[in-house]
Amino acid sequence: MNNSEIVELAHRNLVDIYGCLPIAFERGQGAYLFDADGNRYLDFFCGLAVTSLGHGHPRVVHAIKEQAEKLTHVSNVFHTEPTARLAERLASRFGGGRVFFGNSGAEANEAAIKLARRWGHKDGGGRFEIIAALGSFHGRTLATLSATGQEKYHQGFQPLVPGFRLMPFDDVAALDRAVRDETVAVMVEPIQGEGGVVMPHPDYLNRLRDFCDRRKMLLILDEIQVGMGRTGKFFAFQHSGIKPDIVTLAKALGGGLPIGAMIAKSEIAAAFTPGSHGTTFGGNPVACAAALSVIDVIDREAVLENATKVGAHILERLRTIAKECPHVIEVRGLGMIIGVVLKGDPRPLVDVCLKEKLIVNGTAGNVLRLLPPLNLKREEADAGLAIIERALKTVEVSR
Ligand SMILES: Cc1ncc(COP(=O)(O)O)c(C=O)c1O
Repeated sequence: MNNSEIVELAHRNLVDIYGCLPIAFERGQGAYLFDADGNRYLDFFCGLAVTSLGHGHPRVVHAIKEQAEKLTHVSNVFHTEPTARLAERLASRFGGGRVFFGNSGAEANEAAIKLARRWGHKDGGGRFEIIAALGSFHGRTLATLSATGQEKYHQGFQPLVPGFRLMPFDDVAALDRAVRDETVAVMVEPIQGEGGVVMPHPDYLNRLRDFCDRRKMLLILDEIQVGMGRTGKFFAFQHSGIKPDIVTLAKALGGGLPIGAMIAKSEIAAAFTPGSHGTTFGGNPVACAAALSVIDVIDREAVLENATKVGAHILERLRTIAKECPHVIEVRGLGMIIGVVLKGDPRPLVDVCLKEKLIVNGTAGNVLRLLPPLNLKREEADAGLAIIERALKTVEVSR
């Protein structure tokens, strides 16, 4: 099928929720995607921070093929080696703990929310309330939506799940005033991704950690977008030197296969007992084998170092370009998550980049967001930057 045939077929049959662009991709290689008509695109989006090692990384492909040939599924009442090994790798990266596997970011967060409630009931004096941040995004299930601090996602879905309250991001003083007897946990993203690449003060996580320790509350970090090396460290919280009680991962974990993980300190994870939570596909051996290969590649191919170096280059170059673009308010980011904050809607810029065969994305109404592969080469970064520079200097950004 050619590009327009696929687009037309999809339009007629899929539930219309994604506002899809009229492009159907057929294959990918490294930082490039190819559509069904053979056009090549440079991918600075990575399927929304998922294909962080680029497309078709040979080690990831090999791991998926090898496991698919051996075994694709057993029930969670049995064990498989990839699942056990991945749990061990993630728990040890976390500095000791226990792991629950789901199939998406929302499921990882749902597990974190349920674990916090269960711990609150059992060890936390009956507390259940979770405070999340304005501007946050935690997923589309009803509980994760209720923790999401953006009203546009709530519309038409009320009543939301009770037991959540929203406070300003990066404001521990406001949190201090907000905590009530029933508050059991604080849940935040180390950098708000969907919220517009919002970077808190460098002390924020340390202050949150102190605060939660003093109040005997759990600190839950949602690293679904910024974990797995996106900021240049395996976990974003490693920039602060703290350890949360619970962290969630998904997106880049499976190298393109669906998997989410919740990692919790062992004493907190103990609140989940047999039968209290679960999911049929969680810990799927093919997805776990893919995730193990992703971690191997991160370690063996100096991926974090590259994300730090090339990310800093992109940030610096964009800041220089921004000086000549009065409609750019700020360029911010860390590693390979970068936001260009504009005076208006980023969509015309996204469209122009797409015409020039570069995939970027707009978020939060006025932010052009770049999520390139962590192993992007400097020449590829420069090729993308040249397109962004042309777009920023020629496209009218309207308020
Ligand atoms: C920080 C964060 N949390 C949770 C999610 C939800 O993940 P999923 O779409 O895999 O359910 C996302 C997705 O964009 C995210 O960015």
